[in-house]
Amino acid sequence: MGQFDGKRVLVTGGGTGIGREIAHAFTRQGAIVAICGRRPGPLKAARDDMAEARDRVHVIECDVSDPEDVAAMAARVEKLMGGLDVLVNNAGVDERGRIEELELRAIDRVLSINLRGAIITTRAFLPLLRKAGRGACVLNISSTLGSMAEESSVAYCISKAGLEMLTRCVALDCAPEGIRVNAIAPGVVDTPIQDRIKGELGYQEWRSQMEHLHPMRSIGRPKDVASAALFLCGPEADWLTGVILPVDGGMTAR
Ligand SMILES: NC(=O)c1ccc[n+]([C@@H]2O[C@H](COP(=O)([O-])OP(=O)(O)OC[C@H]3O[C@@H](n4cnc5c(N)ncnc54)[C@H](OP(=O)(O)O)[C@@H]3O)[C@@H](O)[C@H]2O)c1
Repeated sequence: MGQFDGKRVLVTGGGTGIGREIAHAFTRQGAIVAICGRRPGPLKAARDDMAEARDRVHVIECDVSDPEDVAAMAARVEKLMGGLDVLVNNAGVDERGRIEELELRAIDRVLSINLRGAIITTRAFLPLLRKAGRGACVLNISSTLGSMAEESSVAYCISKAGLEMLTRCVALDCAPEGIRVNAIAPGVVDTPIQDRIKGELGYQEWRSQMEHLHPMRSIGRPKDVASAALFLCGPEADWLTGVILPVDGGMTAR
């Protein structure tokens, strides 16, 4: 028996990295899971990786920054799973650069996926979450950079700061209905979003610099975020809403 037996979960960006691990963690607890992303390859590989739960994993190609795509995904989720209990807004991208260096379209891209994508997806799935009733929830994957400014990260930082305020505003709006809305703010985790900077620095140098940023002197693993996700979406957290939970080896304790 799993903690999420029969619960229906959608993880955006669930084909790789943190999203893939969150999806896998939910399947281990008995959930029926849909994962979405733009590229079919990683989604199918992720489903293959969850071999023991393969018949409970649905793959949906969807760009969360496109409202029509997301509306089609909502219809597909309802058809495939009969509704939704947990929405995880995890899809995200990074573009590094100072405000005057970044092309405006690069800033727009980050905001349209990391922030507007979460807005579009939450709006599209709230009717299904309402049908599921009290106990349904939304989890947004932010970053320590939602509350800490970093050099050459203006687009990413403002997108995650917006996502955190979105979390709190929607949490208030949905609280009377018993729908909870929370966020996790991870520190550095070794996933494909880090590939560009890993390529620039070399893996060992990247790892040592990143470890040094965290008081615990280690970087995070996708499973560190996934276990926090299970907690925030589960019954042990049923009076918890509007919270931004750092999962960051102490980075924001300073
Ligand atoms: N790794 C870290 O150090 C770290 C730290 C703090 C926060 N985070 C956050 O954690 C989340 C997951 O990132 P990750 O670290 O696991 O990196 P990742 O492996 O690159 O995951 C990002 C996922 O988002 C999907 N995605 C991107 N744009 C999308 C779009 N328009 N529509 C649908 N899906 C889209 C990607 O798939 P496609 O490209 O196929 O669409 C990919 O599967 C992100 O929100 C990121 O900001 C990561």
